[in-house]
Amino acid sequence: MSSKKPWEGRFAAPTDQTLEDFSESLSFDRRLYPQDIAQSLAHCEMLIRQGIIEEDIGRRIMETLKEIREELDAGTFPFDSAWEDIHMAIEARLIEKMGPAGGALHTARSRNDQVATDLRLYVKEEIGEFRGLLSDLMAAFIEKAKEHIDLIFPGLTHLQHAQAVRFSHHLMAYVEMFHRDEERLRDALKRVDLCPLGSGALAGTTFPIDRVFVAEKLGFRDVTRNSMDAVSDRDFVVEFLSALSLIMVHLSRFAEDLILWNSTYWHLIELPDTLATGSSMMPQKKNPDGAELIRGKSGRVFGHLMALLVVLKGLPMTYNRDLQEDKEPLFDAVDTVRSSLRMAALLVKGLKPLLEEMEKAVRQGYLQATDLADYLVRKGKPFREAHGIVGKLVSYALASGKDLAEMSFEEMKRFSPDFEDDVSEVLSVERGVDQRNEIGMTGRESVLAHIAYAEEHYLKSKEE
Ligand code: ARG
Repeated sequence: MSSKKPWEGRFAAPTDQTLEDFSESLSFDRRLYPQDIAQSLAHCEMLIRQGIIEEDIGRRIMETLKEIREELDAGTFPFDSAWEDIHMAIEARLIEKMGPAGGALHTARSRNDQVATDLRLYVKEEIGEFRGLLSDLMAAFIEKAKEHIDLIFPGLTHLQHAQAVRFSHHLMAYVEMFHRDEERLRDALKRVDLCPLGSGALAGTTFPIDRVFVAEKLGFRDVTRNSMDAVSDRDFVVEFLSALSLIMVHLSRFAEDLILWNSTYWHLIELPDTLATGSSMMPQKKNPDGAELIRGKSGRVFGHLMALLVVLKGLPMTYNRDLQEDKEPLFDAVDTVRSSLRMAALLVKGLKPLLEEMEKAVRQGYLQATDLADYLVRKGKPFREAHGIVGKLVSYALASGKDLAEMSFEEMKRFSPDFEDDVSEVLSVERGVDQRNEIGMTGRESVLAHIAYAEEHYLKSKEE
């Protein structure tokens, strides 16, 4: 049966245990204790400054809050499941430790603006953490790209051999994706970084509080501008979950590439034993479970985004208890994306390109065909005609089981008199790659320039 409730004055009977169990959030929102204590300290200091509570009581509240933080840090805080949420647990402990005077802390505050403030502080910190994790992952890709700058790799469209690229160019494509993610988080921060404290339950407070002081104390860039919106707004969580979802889209695409490269059929990379798992039945197996789980866990994060959108879409003004359902999706998304980013960085560091296999792969699938058509264009043929000629040449090569580079000059001449001695240059896959040297292309100079650009502009340590 429930212990004392802060609202019990109005009630004649205790809460039914089923409702108590159903509505508690302490089991998961205890994660917000650092933010909750921080805001209580700032709020209390403001109450003292404004003369709303007595200085000596205020000071004792602040000292006791710090002791409580130590208990929470040390894991000695006596959690009592009767306390509905972390806000009430901390307040109850405060009163337990210093007596009824501790109850002054909640002057001019509601759990509605309190939880909104905690959550904004939490998301702000997580944005910082994720920007760091993204930077670490980008650094891993950049290192790999540098290490294998001269490795040529089959580029695909429709999962079919298309044109040759540098392996480093493929790796740097992910860097662009994760850089966008990092930028998206930074953009979102602007809207997270507002302090709702002082909105009260929905209508503010009659006390002469100083909202700007509290906001500054807590490191917010500004305060929210409408108390009703402020207690019910969770757009910032949606934006954050949406940025996390896109990170998972990108991680999942990388995982898929890795799984294909590592597959028995493609066999283009190898994973170290430390980053693969075996089978309980088949002794020969070495599986890329880390990558598969990243791909699999992405669904979970998209689900959390959807769940929150659905929670929000029918809510009338202002705070409704439905909003408590924002936390588990948010926390699980944070944990899932954090561990996925760390796993991915390890996989990038550990993956080993199989040089001979890659060399073989770029000799397959007529990767130089487009370059050959371009060659004929330079000799004066309209592109469409050149495309047709090379198409016939490829069809002949297919029938005779040869690569374009293996064809004799005479054989080629049969398809067009425009093929001259210099055609051999075009048949070199490596040369073709290196001729693509404008910004954003796969030539050696372009990729080196991209790497230098990314190191200068994308990585956290370089920027801050
Ligand atoms: N545990 C609640 C939540 O997470 C805190 C706010 C409760 N407010 C209320 N009026 N019951 O949303």
